[in-house]
Amino acid sequence: MDVLSVTSEIYPLIKTGGLADVTGALPKALLGHGVKIRTLVPGYSRLRPLLKNRLPLLVFDDLLGEPAALHALEIDGLDLFVLDAPQLYDRPGGPYIDGQGHDHADNWKRFAVLSLAGAEIAQGALPGWKPDVVHTHDWQTALTSVYMREMGSTTPVVLTIHNLAFQGQFSSSLLPAIGLPPQAYAMDGLEYYGDISFLKGGLLTADYITAVSPTYAREILSARFGMGLEGVLSERMDRLRGIVNGIDQEIWDPASDPYLVAPFDLKTLGWKGPNKQHLLERFGLDTDEGPLFSAISRLTWQKGMDMLAETADEIMAGGGKLIVLGQGDRDIEQALLDVAGRFPGRMAVEIGYDEETAHMIHGGADAIIQPSRFEPCGLTQLYALRYGCVPIVSRTGGLSETIIDANDAAMSARAATGFQFHPVAAPALRDALRRALDAYRVPKDWRRLQLQGMRADYSWERSAAQYADIYKTLLKQAPHAPEQPRSSAF
Ligand code: ADP
Ligand code: GLC
Repeated sequence: MDVLSVTSEIYPLIKTGGLADVTGALPKALLGHGVKIRTLVPGYSRLRPLLKNRLPLLVFDDLLGEPAALHALEIDGLDLFVLDAPQLYDRPGGPYIDGQGHDHADNWKRFAVLSLAGAEIAQGALPGWKPDVVHTHDWQTALTSVYMREMGSTTPVVLTIHNLAFQGQFSSSLLPAIGLPPQAYAMDGLEYYGDISFLKGGLLTADYITAVSPTYAREILSARFGMGLEGVLSERMDRLRGIVNGIDQEIWDPASDPYLVAPFDLKTLGWKGPNKQHLLERFGLDTDEGPLFSAISRLTWQKGMDMLAETADEIMAGGGKLIVLGQGDRDIEQALLDVAGRFPGRMAVEIGYDEETAHMIHGGADAIIQPSRFEPCGLTQLYALRYGCVPIVSRTGGLSETIIDANDAAMSARAATGFQFHPVAAPALRDALRRALDAYRVPKDWRRLQLQGMRADYSWERSAAQYADIYKTLLKQAPHAPEQPRSSAF
């Protein structure tokens, strides 16, 4: 079966978070299930040098007024279609923000064009290749199914929600510019509190919706987590399912990780020691005994990093140390830097994004803190488990179902893998930090937690099978004769 995945990020080429990890890992994981995925991505600056001296597969003269060329590229085992439109994608900054941290003003067009190209491919624009199923991810590519339905395509579409907080909300005056008819601006269309929402359009026109954990799939039906889309999601409940993310076990393997000074596995956990020493030195921290806590995260309200700034002193009071790697909201960055300033040699904050350092932290730290206010799945805690780095997490979304709290019952059943806290507020986090500090003082218990975490299986195997199952079911149900193009999908 051929699947077209349409995404704004893919590891290792372009990543701002877990979305890239998932879109990068799924193609490999699904190969064993008879599914061949080709992924459409924008031709960002980093990708353009790879297109040099290559002929495009296809030239689009006019995608919402923009010319673009489609290139095929095989890289790191990924089969890519790269949409080259330098006026849209080749510019400084990240995929969504410019060098000053502001959204690119034309994000609406950049991702509408990407989605339209996806729809054209789904409709057979490429001679000799047409997908059986299309898979879209988050608001950035949610319009793909809207365009496909406008074109009369009946090819099944799966939309995965990685984070409902980002919805692609823009002024309704842009509707003509994204090539959609006026009737798309309706309650049962893209209309969203007076604006338009790309994600809402996708939720209404995809054949199946997945969220990245079963808990999150339930949570988003409520007003608290639904971010205004709970009504739309509730209407589509029979077509919504949670599938927990897996991890790429080749990239995240402490036994072969090139970024660790001393690779280790279950049997050689003691080798974590030299990694910890190296990490402490790298961050200029004291090298005395005591637990080393860490956080690798976007520094945002979602991730509860303000709560970490508020409670970090608890770690130092208990004889621990803390390393934070991340970037995000200026206020939260500053709050963390201020606390670190109060604890020289005990706490270090690095503002930035660095894949290699992230690996080193997982390898050397004793614990990782993820106090998210909501967390669709979360991958950091899964990487940490594999590296014997014990997660301390809030009880929400994917965190609640991937980490087993070290309560007495779970400890004696040898099932615990970390610490959970609830409610998601600073006092409960403080309490969890104290529990972790206490557990660290009993080496036998701590080691057991580490080993149990390292044994937990979060490979893609089970989850990939669930995606394959959805694709196959949809394909079986899809009408074979193409419908007449409708005047509007709405
Ligand atoms: P989200 O996608 O919401 O940010 P996830 O836990 O799903 O959260 O994924 C985050 C991914 O980004 C992980 O691979 C994590 O290691 C990585 N990451 C986050 N911040 C940084 C950083 N500052 N440096 C390196 N990697 C980071
Ligand atoms: C989003 C979510 C995160 C999830 C990731 C990959 O960025 O915030 O929880 O793990 O997508 O699905």
